[in-house]
Parts: sequence; structure tokens; C-alpha cells
Amino acid sequence: MSVAALDVRDVRIRFGGVTALDGISLTVAPGEICGLIGPNGAGKTTLFNCITRIYRPDSGTVRFGARDLLAVPRHRIVRHGIARTFQNLALFVHENLRVGAAVRGKDRDGIAADIEYWYEVFPVLRARAKQIAGTLSGGEQQMLAVARALMSRPKLLLCDEISLGLAPKIVAELFAVLRRINDEDGTALLLVEQNAELALDLAGRAYLLEVGRVAGQGPAAEFRDNDAVRRAYLEKAAASPSKLSHAGIMEAARTQEYRPPMFIDGIKWRMAPSAPLGILAFRPFQWDATGVAFKPFGDVIDISGKYITK
Ligand SMILES: Nc1ncnc2c1ncn2[C@@H]1O[C@H](COP(=O)(O)OP(=O)(O)OP(=O)(O)O)[C@@H](O)[C@H]1O
Ligand SMILES: [Mg+2]
Repeated sequence: MSVAALDVRDVRIRFGGVTALDGISLTVAPGEICGLIGPNGAGKTTLFNCITRIYRPDSGTVRFGARDLLAVPRHRIVRHGIARTFQNLALFVHENLRVGAAVRGKDRDGIAADIEYWYEVFPVLRARAKQIAGTLSGGEQQMLAVARALMSRPKLLLCDEISLGLAPKIVAELFAVLRRINDEDGTALLLVEQNAELALDLAGRAYLLEVGRVAGQGPAAEFRDNDAVRRAYLEKAAASPSKLSHAGIMEAARTQEYRPPMFIDGIKWRMAPSAPLGILAFRPFQWDATGVAFKPFGDVIDISGKYITK
């Protein structure tokens, strides 16, 4: 029996003068949770677009089990067991769940049972069932995106930065669901995350992408302890305020000598010297490192005297 597994080999794609993917090779085994981390513009979404045939790579191969995915029309990719989360969802909430299950044809009872399952996992979606997806909050939209993708009962789920912009509590909830579907259904996951700490918590193995190339790979635990990877990516990520993770904030507070007061936007806002480390946040979301959330008035923050502009 051949078991489905993703096998991407030497994939290249250029857009005009930009080489977005410069010979990427990557595999995801059946039932595996694999992380894919890397800074903005590294090519993570482009790789998803090549796997799901939104783009056709200039060269290289993409196989899922025995199947050559580059020979599959894009609307049929999901039939072969690969689903992805989408960011800008249209339609009503309940329609999204049905559309997600479209490939299951006439399995009415199974589909209805799964819709019920997702309404139980994310009760807020039931409450919003007749609402247009675009009117949901960021966290609700990601819940819907995950539920919709999983309605197809994929063997592999591609998640593109589902934690982006969400409060840590919502992120924890979403990631707990991912862990559960991996445990219970054996669904393999390829997690694109700028929040590297988060991806490495869940993933058994990870790849680091930088400017269209694989700059590192290995078991998540080694990845975390690897000095070169830390320097190359994790610490850089901690200095990128729009992508700061909760763990990153705590790390910044621990490793840099944190000195309140903290200025946001230089002038407009100042944290009282006695206040606990609190930050932080950026439109449209807030990170809350201490249980106390602070609202900034601008896009500049100061961690330990270092001004960082978004
Ligand atoms: N359709 C396109 N036309 C032109 N350039 C593109 C296109 N799609 C992607 N690119 C370029 O390819 C590179 C990789 O982009 P991609 O969106 O894959 O990055 P990413 O790793 O997902 O970044 P982010 O973390 O910001 O989402 C970028 O330089 C981007 O501008
Ligand atoms: Mg992207």
C-alpha cells in the first residue's frame, strides 16, 4: 500500500525578476506535524501555492504519495487529501463549512455530524452561523478557516500563519485543536508560522526558509537549541514587533535588561516606572505579557531602550 506523504523536490519559481523559491525540497510524512518558519518574503505562502497548484513551479516536482500533484488541476487537489486554510473568507459561516465538505459528495449524515462537531469545538461559530464570514473577528475567522479546511477530512492540512494577529488565548485554543486532530485522525500538518516558538512547540520537525531556500531543517527540539538557527531567525523574529510572540516578549524581557518606563511612539505614552512589564501591541491586536494589556497609540515601541519601528 502506498501511503500519502508530501514530497516537494527542487521546486523553483520566479516572478519577473524575483526568485521566490530557489530549489526547495521538503517532505511531510503521513501523520507528521512539520513546521515551516521563516521571515516575511521567504517564500512560505508561495510554497503552499505551488503545492496546491495555485501556481505552477518553473521546475521541480510535488508529489503526494504516488500522485504527481503538478498534474492535478487545482480544484481537484483537495480530493487527493490536501486542504489549506484561507485567509479572506467570503460566504456565510455555515456555508463555509458546507463548501469545505463539498468533496465528500453525498455523505450527508457524515457532513452534518462533522458540522455539529465543529460547532461544538468552536461554539462561537454556531452563534455566528448566519453571519458573513468577513464580519467575524480575527480569531473567529481563523477558527472558521481551520474548521472549513478540516471539513474535507484531509490527510494533510496546510496552515498559513493561523496565529497571526490573535490573542495568545485564542492561539492556544486553535493549536490545541490542531494537536487533537493530529492525534485522533492522524491528519498531517504543515504549519507555516512566523511565530517560530509556537510552531516548534507543536511540530516534531521543522524547516527554516530564507529567501526561497531551505536554510535549516531538523527535529524541532534541535532546532530550538541550535545557536545558528536562533541567531539567524528566532532572535531576529523577537526584534520584529509586528510578529512578536508571547514567548519572544518574555525572552526579550529576560535577556535584555528591561528598564521601564517604556515609551510607545516616543512621546505619547509612557508606562509608569512601577508598572509591570506589559506591552504590547500593535494594531490590530494586543499581546498581553502579564495579564495586563496596554494599548499603544503608535507604531513604535521601545524594549529596553531599543526603539523598534514597525
Ligand atoms: N504572484 C506574485 N507575483 C510577484 N511576486 C510574488 C508573487 N507571489 C509571491 N511573490 C514574491 O515572492 C516572495 C515570497 O513571497 P511569499 O508570500 O511566499 O512570502 P512569505 O514567506 O509567505 O512571507 P510572509 O511571512 O510575509 O507571508 C516575495 O518576494 C513576494 O513578493
Ligand atoms: Mg505568507
